Amino acid sequence: MARADLLCDIIKYGLNNDGVNFRKAAEAICAEERANQHGVLAKRIEEMLRISSKTFMKEATAPSARNGNGDGIVSEKIPEKKLEHLLLPRNIIDNCQELFEEHMRADLLRSHGLEPRNKILLIGPPGNGKTSLAEAIAEALMLPILTVKYESLVGAYLGETASRLGKLFDYVKTRQCVLFFDEFETLGKERGDTHETGEIKRVVSSLLLQIDALPSYVIAIAATNHELLLDKAAWRRFQIRMELPKPSRSDLEVWFEQFERRNAHNGFSFGYAYSTLAKKLLDRSYSEAEEFGLSVYRQFILRQPNGNAKDITQKQLSLLSTVNINSKAKETAQEEGVE
Ligand SMILES: Nc1ncnc2c1ncn2[C@@H]1O[C@H](COP(=O)(O)OP(=O)(O)O)[C@@H](O)[C@H]1O
Ligand SMILES: [Mg+2]
Repeated sequence: MARADLLCDIIKYGLNNDGVNFRKAAEAICAEERANQHGVLAKRIEEMLRISSKTFMKEATAPSARNGNGDGIVSEKIPEKKLEHLLLPRNIIDNCQELFEEHMRADLLRSHGLEPRNKILLIGPPGNGKTSLAEAIAEALMLPILTVKYESLVGAYLGETASRLGKLFDYVKTRQCVLFFDEFETLGKERGDTHETGEIKRVVSSLLLQIDALPSYVIAIAATNHELLLDKAAWRRFQIRMELPKPSRSDLEVWFEQFERRNAHNGFSFGYAYSTLAKKLLDRSYSEAEEFGLSVYRQFILRQPNGNAKDITQKQLSLLSTVNINSKAKETAQEEGVE
């Protein structure tokens, strides 16, 4: 029997019409079967691959093979981020597990007249995992993630946007996918001039209505930094609302420990207690912690074999405080009206 991950991969690629990777996964299964002495099966797979080779090549190279992409309004990606690679509050993990079960066992729900939930709102300050979580949800459900490109959605003329929205939703309804509205609040900013705010409001409310009407096999996820930009009625349309907070001090400790462990194969260490690092990085986002961790790691690799981990970390910490002091000074200057 082929490995479970290969089987999952091949199903995922098949569902996504990803001919190239589908073929690669099939070849991997074939090789594995041969290695396991299942020669007859391996030969059969090989034969199937040989016969369909021409068709696959055609699909992989034809630009319009995917039946358009909602007129370029979405960009499609095979998700890679995994849920277990993110540090998330317990309630978010529980919510996600429930969501996965609802979709994995949708047939059972439907046989009882129920639908899995499919409208999710992610809220939180930048750099704490909203985009990553949307991708991880798609990955866990083995679905492609289609991110809406607002610049392609909002047209120059009145009415144009509405027709593009129509096209977008007609297209996504034909797919089993995660439809992702990243930085939802920026949608309103696509058109800067105040005369058009009326149209933007109409776009947003029509968008929310369309999201409401999506079939449950399309999972709509919206992410925003500013919950206040959505009115209460909009909030209620999302069945699952999850807040991704900044990391606490103990979250950061865990993050640093995991980062060090992930890179331990290169002999990497911060040379500092995790609690000290967490204290220094307190009030920053996961993304900033990651940036810092990678800066230390980069220097560590460059200073091999004689580099001292503690010195390297100390240097990066001092750079970190310079940036902090600079931005604090700038804030103060701005408050006092000094440029
Ligand atoms: N909760 C988290 N756990 C681990 N890493 C995180 C987390 N949140 C963010 N990161 C890291 O920071 C990077 C940026 O996060 P992102 O998902 O783009 O945040 P947001 O969309 O909220 O601005 C990610 O690529 C990831 O590596
Ligand atoms: Mg983001």
